Order: sequence, then C-alpha cells, then structure tokens
Amino acid sequence: MAYDVAAVRAHFPALEEGAAHFDGPGGSQTPDVVADAVAGTLRSAIANRGVMTAAERRADEIVTEARQAMADLLAGTPGGMVFGRSMTQLTYDMARALAKEWQPGDEVVVTTLDHDANIRPWVQAAQARGVTVRRADFDPRSGELDVAAVADLLTERTRVVAVTAASNLLGTRPDIPAIAERAHAAGALLYIDGVHLTPHSLIDVGLLGADFYACSPYKFLGPHLGVLAADPALLETIHPDKLLPSSDAVPERFELGTLPYELLSGTTAAVDFLAGLVPGEGSRRERLARSMAALEGHERAMLERLETGLAEIAGVTTYGAEGRSRTPTTLFTLDDVAPADTYRLLAERGVNAPASTFYALECSRRLGLGDTGAVRAGIAPYTDESDVDRLLKGVRELAG
Ligand SMILES: Cc1ncc(COP(=O)(O)O)c(C=O)c1O
Repeated sequence: MAYDVAAVRAHFPALEEGAAHFDGPGGSQTPDVVADAVAGTLRSAIANRGVMTAAERRADEIVTEARQAMADLLAGTPGGMVFGRSMTQLTYDMARALAKEWQPGDEVVVTTLDHDANIRPWVQAAQARGVTVRRADFDPRSGELDVAAVADLLTERTRVVAVTAASNLLGTRPDIPAIAERAHAAGALLYIDGVHLTPHSLIDVGLLGADFYACSPYKFLGPHLGVLAADPALLETIHPDKLLPSSDAVPERFELGTLPYELLSGTTAAVDFLAGLVPGEGSRRERLARSMAALEGHERAMLERLETGLAEIAGVTTYGAEGRSRTPTTLFTLDDVAPADTYRLLAERGVNAPASTFYALECSRRLGLGDTGAVRAGIAPYTDESDVDRLLKGVRELAG
C-alpha cells in the first residue's frame, strides 16, 4: 500500500498555519487524534490509579494501555516501559541509580556522536563515584561511529556503554547490534539513545541488543514526555532513590510521583496513528511494521529530493550525507550566510529549519562547527514535495 502523504497531512491542524516544518528532529507536529486523546482524558473523571472508582480504574487502564502501546512500538515488554518527564530526566535518574553500584576504577564509555543527554548524565555520575569516562570518537569526515571505536575502549571494568542509535545532528546510525555484542562480551550494559531513530524506523530492542532504550514520544507525533524501555528482570536489580510509601514494583519504582495520564493517553494514540499510517489488517505490531516500512520509503524519497537539490546549489556544504545508514536528517551550512541568519531568513519564507548544535555539542565541535552548529532539516511523516521545494527555493535565494 502506497504512503498517502496528503491523507497523513490532513490529520495535522498545525500545518494549516502554513509553515513547512523541517524542525521535526526537535519535536514533531501533533495529529488531531493525539490532541483529542489528551483532551479526552482531561475531560474525563480521573483519579490516582486504583480499583475502587471508575475514575481510578480509568487511570489504571490508561497506564496499562500506554505500556502495551510502547511495548508494541519497540518490541519490548509492557512491564519494562518506564515513563518520565523526558529522555534527559530518565537518563539522569538511571545513571544515578546504576552508579550506586559502581566502584572507583570502574569505567563507562560515551561517544562524541551523542546528544549531551546521553553523555553528561554518565560523565557526572562517573565523577561522583571516581569512575573513568572513555570517549569513543566518530569520524568527522564520514559522520560514522565505527564499532571498533567503541570496542577498542572496552575492558573488564566497563560498566555501561552509552551510545546513540542515530545522531540527531547528522542522522548517521551506528551498528548497534555489533556494538551490543562487544559490550555484552565485556560484561557491560548498553544504554541506547533512541530519541532520533524511533520516529523513522521500526524498532526492536531485542534485535538491537539494547539493555536500555530511551526515546521521547514528542519526537514521534506524541506528547511531551520520555520513555525508557528495559527488561523488567534487569529493572528488578536496580534500586533508585524513591519515596517510602511509593510502590517498589517494577516499573513503578522508577516513576517518581504521579504519572501524566493525559500524556500517556496521547502516547497510545500516537502509536496507533503510526500503526495506521497505511491502512491494513493485523496486530498493532504488524501494522506498525507495514506503516514504518512505507514511512521509511516516503522519507527516503523526500531526503533524496532535498539532498539532490542542495547538491546543485553552489556554496552549500552538507555534513555526514555520505553515511552508510542514515535517518532523513540533513545538516548544512551556506558559504556566505551564518547559520543563524539562514535560520532567520528561511523562517521569514515560512520554512522552519533551525540552526543550532541541537545539544549534540561535542559532535558539533568535532565537526568544526563549534558551539554554533549548523542548519538542520529533518523530514517527518507530514513532509511533502512542496515543503522540500520551498526549502530548496529559500536556500537558492540565500545562496544566490
Ligand atoms: C538524540 C536525542 N537524544 C536526547 C534528546 C533529549 O530528549 P528529551 O527532550 O526527551 O530529554 C534529544 C532531543 O532533542 C535528542 O534529539
């Protein structure tokens, strides 16, 4: 079944405002059904989770359904889906919880390709425990992080390897299953930042070999929160700081305070929307597989149109575009226009393509883009040819 981008776009009220959105890697626009689910929960009787009243049972069902939806999206286990405010918060919490067991002289491995949310929490937890941080470096020419760059740093003291499934700056995708094999052989846990990959590819946390997989629904058409997926048996072995009266069950042990029920309803609706991107029968996981495959095809076509067009414009430099396996994300600069000016002048033309390091600060510095970064154009499920052409027209005007 072909991907019908016009039918998809019809579900996004935000697009009626008229901008061409290439800011999806920072946060996607929201379909009507997700907004309705959030509002619907807020309009319903709702209480803390329980079994006595209808309002309590509704809250409980919402949590159960959201865990199941995320398990379907990631091919994980519902009981291992931890919800939190953001990927950053969940990663800080998990780094601190794991660090309780670290000994001075232990080691953690981070990478220069990563968003700072998968670097700083590990660096700071390591500093607090006298643990050594090792940095796997990517190749700034290709934008690739080789398996060997990580594997060469592993020792029997490595406790955690933290690596991204896809760079939010360059779109390049490290070979996570191969890294997982090496990390596990060294006895380390693998913490995967899946925030940038999840919107673009069918995820199977088992196939990736991720012990932890973190992502953010607001990047895949859902509301603003974070999810951390892990095997419940692994979570049972970890003991975060928590309140005395709060549940010690897994995964509740990791969910501090009351969950945002309305956002969980929105998350379930986002997963259902993704599963329905192309119509068809089957379980939700089967429909997700079919829809994500069609989405990948659509996004690849939009990326090719964009990058072919950019290559024809004199004075445009792209970064990481030769990478072997990539998300539909392009990072570029113009010879004679500063990234911040490109960002502003494109915005004046109704094209939203921000310029920044996007918190991948070490990556930006390593690329020679310093603390300024570059312009990032991300393709999303609602991106169509006219959006791409509008961006190309804008860049041509600025370059010319
Ligand atoms: C690759 C990547 N990791 C982590 C994050 C942080 O996610 P959150 O805002 O949920 O903390 C982002 C957000 O831009 C990201 O792109």
